[in-house]
Amino acid sequence: MIERRCASDTATQRAGEQFARVLRPGDIVLLSGHLGAGKTTFTKGVATGLGVLERVTSPTFTMVREHECHNDAGIRTLQHCDVYRVESLAEVLDLDLAELAEESAVVVIEWGELAESLFGREVLRVDIEIGDDEARTLRVDGSIDEPRRSALKEWANA
Ligand SMILES: Nc1ncnc2c1ncn2[C@@H]1O[C@H](COP(=O)(O)OP(=O)(O)OP(=O)(O)O)[C@@H](O)[C@H]1O
Ligand SMILES: [Mg+2]
Repeated sequence: MIERRCASDTATQRAGEQFARVLRPGDIVLLSGHLGAGKTTFTKGVATGLGVLERVTSPTFTMVREHECHNDAGIRTLQHCDVYRVESLAEVLDLDLAELAEESAVVVIEWGELAESLFGREVLRVDIEIGDDEARTLRVDGSIDEPRRSALKEWANA
């Protein structure tokens, strides 16, 4: 299990920023964790790591926010989704997130476990567990090939 403890919200943001280094175009990242666990906080860090210049806010009511990226990884767009309020999986299907990911994008989905069955291909999963006070434990699993595993082990120990 690849896990990283984050003692504060800035630590979670930094974890997201460094997590961005393991991402490749087409990746789908499913974030899970209770209300207020830090899914949006983590995504803000990912956005910074991908070179998003604009401010990233919670997409709770819009479901998807698209951000232009500036990086050397070939990732042109960050699709930041939140499916907490979806009424049915059909609504998520309409967003065509897998299709969005194909186009040099990375898709990050808050409450992603609710939509997991929609993705035929492998995804990355990041679960955020709330600990004492401000502590969070981030756990990563899913579609992890060997190069990515070693990068993630470094990430876990950073
Ligand atoms: N270690 C930590 N990591 C992340 N957030 C933390 C941490 N400690 C405290 N916080 C606080 O917890 C809150 C996390 O909010 P955030 O919006 O990121 O959670 P979320 O999982 O996206 O919530 P929601 O389920 O409503 O979408 C923030 O207010 C943040 O300051
Ligand atoms: Mg959120």
